Amino acid sequence: MYLGLDLGTSGIKALLLDDQQRVVDSVTTSLSLSRLHSGWSEQNPQDWLNATESALDALKQRHPVELAAVRGIGLSGQMHGATLLDQAGRVLRPCMLWNDTRSHRQAARLDANPRFREVSGNIVFPGFTAPKLLWVKENEPAVFKLTARVLLPKDYLRLWMTGEYVSDMSDAAGTSWLDTGVRKWSEELLALSGMSIDQMPDLVEGTEAAGILRKPLAQRWGMGPAVAVAGGAGDNAASAVGTGTVVEGSGFVSLGTSGVLFAANDSYLPEPASAVHAFCHALPGTWHQMGVILSAASALDWYAGFLQSRPRDLTLSLGDRVVPPGNVIFLPYLSGERTPYNDAVVRGSFVGLAHESDRNAMTRAVLEGVAFALRDNLEALRATGTELSGVIAVGGGSHSRYWLGTIANALQLEIQVPVEGDYGAAFGAARLGLIAATGEQPLKICSAPEIEESIVPEASLMDAFEQAYQRYRGLYPLLREWSKS
Ligand code: XUL
Repeated sequence: MYLGLDLGTSGIKALLLDDQQRVVDSVTTSLSLSRLHSGWSEQNPQDWLNATESALDALKQRHPVELAAVRGIGLSGQMHGATLLDQAGRVLRPCMLWNDTRSHRQAARLDANPRFREVSGNIVFPGFTAPKLLWVKENEPAVFKLTARVLLPKDYLRLWMTGEYVSDMSDAAGTSWLDTGVRKWSEELLALSGMSIDQMPDLVEGTEAAGILRKPLAQRWGMGPAVAVAGGAGDNAASAVGTGTVVEGSGFVSLGTSGVLFAANDSYLPEPASAVHAFCHALPGTWHQMGVILSAASALDWYAGFLQSRPRDLTLSLGDRVVPPGNVIFLPYLSGERTPYNDAVVRGSFVGLAHESDRNAMTRAVLEGVAFALRDNLEALRATGTELSGVIAVGGGSHSRYWLGTIANALQLEIQVPVEGDYGAAFGAARLGLIAATGEQPLKICSAPEIEESIVPEASLMDAFEQAYQRYRGLYPLLREWSKS
């Protein structure tokens, strides 16, 4: 048996996988986040540990025998968050998450030094880890002084589970401190942001064992004394492992709190000016690219929230048949945007409201807005020379056929829906745990799921979607000006 743990933004998922890669069961416990000011987004690391404990307690209640048979654990997690620890490993402040953009000025300052893009292969985005540390240095100097270690969210979970300070290449690539091409911390980039290498965890590949589960936890969960905890991966690379998106030309679209258009690469293909992320993949000697939008399923959650409805009810009432975009346009920049704009200041909008704009029209606009933002990502990937012929759909939002149909039409791309099952980050993490514990060949384990249905763009909708996309694109410059004022 193997266990995958995915520390997401909205919850922690624990998934049990058997030796034949069948999912035995999974439990998700939810997490909340705090937004003290616009652009801020924080979680208390202790909440992650509590949520993990309750997920594991529930799994143990349901499957004590299977849980006791776990030999390997893989971790996956929301990327980029800065968990600051003192010398004794105590948390110094709430974790600033990936969608926390308060450090946009610090990010721009670091990014102005060309070495960051040259060495890390990426823009220094406000959500990345390095600018957050600079923000803490300038705004909370006492905390900065006490900071002995910085860990990414899942690596804090690992510290609790194994006592080891370790990260993996895919997650480390999102800090702005990794020399992404050579898979090593860059002492130069660390120094340029006032940090040093002894504040960094050791690095392993996602498939390597990074430690052994501590005795008290092994006992609590009924496991043996030698459970390996794999390096694991940032949640996007972990989803890629779960969906078999590990060979050149394969890709996925993820509709989670964030939205991601992901492409696996055999080689390192940095193109920072495009705002496409170029990161290490979770398998040794591989890399990946991705476009990231900050609000995907979270945009629908936000809209459902003030309608006092549930996202699922809103999408179900649209049926399955995609209709041409109407006059209402939604721009999903609720926490600014990464790809392609790198704009922390811009905010979202509904445009074109009229008396006849009803709930369904606005729901459709939200789904279309996210789809057009993903189309922007596709164009950014294309500008780097990467072409995708189809993508697998993952993430909570992918349960809506209407949304997937909308994305297929907005991107003019085939969307592949896997057979009923769980292929996301927790599944990918469990696969990494399996590889670390058994030494199995990664490519043998990381197969692609069977595809149940391919959703293809409809010729009759092509023009309407193309025109709506062009209108959507034209609105960003206006919103940017408005948001700055
Ligand atoms: C990736 C990113 C998000 C988070 C979501 O760069 O910021 O996809 O990983 O958990």
